[in-house]
Formats: sequence, C-alpha cells, structure tokens
Amino acid sequence: MITTHDLTPTVMMPAHDLTPTVMMPAQDLTPAAVMPAQDLTPAAVMPAHDLTPAAVMPAHDRFPAAALAGNTAMGAALRDFEGRYPAYAGTAVLDDLRARDYTRLDATGHVYLDYTGGGLYAESQLARHRDLLAGAVFGNPHSQNVPSRGMGARVEATRAQILAFFRASPEEYEVIFTPNATGALRLVGESYPFGPGGQYLLTFDNHNSVNGIRQFARANGASVTYVPLARAGLRVSEGALARQLEPVAPVRGRFARRRSGPATGSLFAFPAQSNFSGVQHPLAWIAQAQAAGYDVLLDAAAFAPSNRLDLSRWHPDYVALSFYKIFGYPTGIGALLVRKPALAKLRRPWYAGGTITFSSVRAEAAPGEGFYLTPGPAGFEDGTVDYLGIPAVGIGLDHISSVGIETIHTRVMCLTGWLLDALGALRHSNGAPVVRIYGPAGTDRRGATIAMNFFDPAGVLIDSVRAERRANRAGISLRSGCHCNPGVREVALGYSAQQMAAAFQDKDRLRYQEFLHVIDGKTTGAARASLGLVTTFADVYRFWEFASRFRDVPSDALGA
Ligand SMILES: Cc1ncc(COP(=O)(O)O)c(C=O)c1O
Repeated sequence: MITTHDLTPTVMMPAHDLTPTVMMPAQDLTPAAVMPAQDLTPAAVMPAHDLTPAAVMPAHDRFPAAALAGNTAMGAALRDFEGRYPAYAGTAVLDDLRARDYTRLDATGHVYLDYTGGGLYAESQLARHRDLLAGAVFGNPHSQNVPSRGMGARVEATRAQILAFFRASPEEYEVIFTPNATGALRLVGESYPFGPGGQYLLTFDNHNSVNGIRQFARANGASVTYVPLARAGLRVSEGALARQLEPVAPVRGRFARRRSGPATGSLFAFPAQSNFSGVQHPLAWIAQAQAAGYDVLLDAAAFAPSNRLDLSRWHPDYVALSFYKIFGYPTGIGALLVRKPALAKLRRPWYAGGTITFSSVRAEAAPGEGFYLTPGPAGFEDGTVDYLGIPAVGIGLDHISSVGIETIHTRVMCLTGWLLDALGALRHSNGAPVVRIYGPAGTDRRGATIAMNFFDPAGVLIDSVRAERRANRAGISLRSGCHCNPGVREVALGYSAQQMAAAFQDKDRLRYQEFLHVIDGKTTGAARASLGLVTTFADVYRFWEFASRFRDVPSDALGA
C-alpha cells in the first residue's frame, strides 16, 4: 500500500533500533530481504555447511567429561574457570534444570545469548499452564458467574504472588497488569502530574520507552533534564546527578509529601540495569531522589531477570517490568508496581471499559464528567486483562523461585566475569584488540549483559549487524543495534549532539533518500551478548570461540 515516495522518516522509523536493516524501502522489508535465508533457519535445520564445528560440539558442560572429549581446549578452559569461580559449582541445579526442562537448547545445539531481549521458558511452565486451562472453565473476571469469579480470584492471587516475589508489602505497593514494561511506563507518563515548574529528570542511559515519557512531560509544560554518562564505563557522572538531587525540602519520613504544592510533580527515571551496557545504577539514588522531592520511576526490565529486586529494602514509587524477560512465557504481560501514595498522584487521561464502576452518557457534560474511576489498580487496566495468561505469570514466578534468583545471579555473574576477561584478552597478531567492550570491563556493579564491537587488525569497526549475521551462521543468538537505548549508543560511539540533531531537523519534509543521507553512519550500534537463567560455560566458551574467529581477518575479507 505504501509507495516509496510516501516513505517519510516517520514511516520508515522502526519501533526499535535504527539498524540498517530497518532503513530499507518498504517493499524490501520482508524478512527474507532483510536477512539472508540461512540466518532465518533454526540451527536444528540449518544446512550442514553452516554448522561450524563449534555449532555441533556437545552443547554444554553438564557432563564435563563429554565436553572434554569433544573439545579439550574447552575442557581446559572449564577447569580454569571452575578454579577461578568456585561459586559456580553451587549453581549446578541450573545444569539439571536445563537438561530436564530446556531440552530444545541442547537438542538443537543452539547458543542463546539474548536473554535481555527475551528470557527462555521451561517446558514444564507450558505443561502446567496447559493443564490448568484444560482442567477448568474460566471466564472473564469482569462477570460475576462462577467461572469468572474463579478467574478473578486467580488474577488477585497472582498480584499477591508478584508482590511477594519482589518482597513488596501489600500495605505499600499495588500491582497493575500491563501488556509489557512499555505499557507500564506509558501509564506513568500519560498520568503523571507533569506541569509548569515540574521536571522530568532521567539518565542518558534509558530505554526508548522511558525516553518517550519526555513527550508527555514537555506537552504538559515540565522541563526535561538528562543526566550525562561518562564515556569510560558508561556510568552516570555522580557530580552531575548530585547537583540535580540537592534536597529541596525537609524530609519528613518516606511517606511524607516531599515537594510543596501537589499540582505538579517531578519525576526521576533510571534503569536498575542498562539493557545496553549492563551497568547497574545505584538503587541508593531512589531514596536520595525522593529526599530531593522527586518521585522515582525505576525501570527494572533488564535487572529483574537475574537480580534480586527487593522492594522491602528499596522503595521506588513506580517500577516497570515485563514478565517474559524473567521467565520467557507468557509474552504480553508486564506490570507496574506502584506505591499507593504514588498511585494516588496519577490522573488517567481517559476511562475505558474495565476501569470504571459507573458511567453515564446523559451526564457526560455535568460536573463529575459522567464516570467513576475504579479505585486501585483496576482503574489503570483498560478493558479485559489477559486473564488466561496471568496464571502463567504465577507459574513462571514459582519456576524462578524453585531455583532461587540468587542462584541465577551467581551463575550469570561467574560466566560474565570469565567472558569479559576472555574477550578483553583477544588480540590480533599485531597486538590490536579484537573486541571493544562498552561499559564496565569487570563484574563490579554490572549485570550479565555485555555490549561490544569487533574490530579488524587495522582497527576498522565491523558493523554489529554483520557480526550478528556471522553469529547466526554459527548457531549463536546475539542482538545487534542500539537496543532501543540511543543515549548509551551515542555516548559509547562518540556521537555529538550536533551530529544527531542534523538527522532530525527536517524530519517532516525529508524524502526517503534524503533521510538515508542524514542518518548515514549514525546507525552503528553494538553487538550484545546477554546471559540468563540456563546459560552454561559451554555457551560462553562457544561465543568466545566465535569472537576469536575475527582474529587477523581484515574487515573486507570477512564477507557480508
Ligand atoms: C531496560 C528496558 N526497559 C524497557 C524495555 C521495554 O520492554 P518491553 O518491550 O517488554 O515493553 C526493555 C526491553 O528490552 C528494556 O530492556
């Protein structure tokens, strides 16, 4: 339907990253056109010539002896790793879990390293959910018949389970179901009392779904302030943040109203963990910002899958997350965890089915506007929630709890430490580094997400999209691009405000070819390897082997 001349940048802009693949004219945007066919094939059915030795070697280290037999170098590396990371031995329960409940990984020899993109579900989660649905009659919880009441009770039980999982007191927090973390962020953005005199303060390191809240802030007259990052390490400049967080009013306890005048608010938003660099920003900022008069929006989407988010210790006003990132299934359900006083500040811009107790058409213009919003979370859940999917959230939480989030954390951090060291040590024969890591080079205050680019011996950057394609051919799943986090990309790759502004100045008038010209070269991102629940040493070793195949190969000899 869309002709090329209609393709203004707005039309062409992808929901996610500005990677070259998404810049193609619409007619080219078929999956087949944006990816070579062999990249679209699961490893299990990949043509034999794509299966490098690494891709067919015994897939993980559950049986070190078997791994040793297949690859003595990996066996030696494993022994060295186990010596340096003795805590890894305490996470063996995850090897058993993988062998039992994630059989598809080893059956296909696939190395999945995109847990920050999406977690993996266990086969038992699917079975439990299926059995539940097959074993009872469930109806829409908005009705009052027996199946509906049963379903309503399950939805409420899942809310309680979510609070317990995050150690949030039901006296303090509510759970609002949303379609994903973005839905939770949008709820805050569109309902928060931004106004003249108020401020939206946020870190350069933020997902686009947090950046986008600046549109609501500006539209309502609030100012928008970004706290910068230092290029080395990609952490926030503490001095700059401290200047923003100078206390403005005496603090009278955590629940006290902190800034005089309830009409406008100031909101501080940051990710507990960067989805780009893996940096973990200090949760101590939450109380500091609250003491300075801000409400705090914590984006926990990338943090929650392998870190304990303890809301009895930290008290952010709003927390956004997606459940598929924690346990893979179901997709399409996230949550906004919200402190009750902070919920009371939100003003919904509309009402809908499911969010009201009573409404009128005849009284629409009368005082009161003809509707009563349902108090509490339901007033924020438009229409019918995914009531059949919500019990699967409870099943997923049970699944994670049966292993323990601390065990998952220990495992992924041991593996991250090894991988960071191993990648950092890779050198071309001329001594030039093969890999440049963006973000912390060690495990201090970071998570298991590693952003990097590969360089040839002459220092030429190999576009992350090319690296991802090579990884696909080796049966390794990474992610390439800016990861919806343009602030970190711009700092990491050194793009100035002037360079970036040039890409947008004529955005309403640009034609497609002109658009390609202004964004030329600004789409470079990074390859991201993110570890999770059932990552093994063999996975990270195979990724390191893959990285080592860039050694001494000039960029133009690498192929597409
Ligand atoms: C830190 C962070 N915030 C927000 C999101 C948005 O999550 P969703 O796409 O599930 O809404 C993501 C997704 O990758 C993320 O990593």
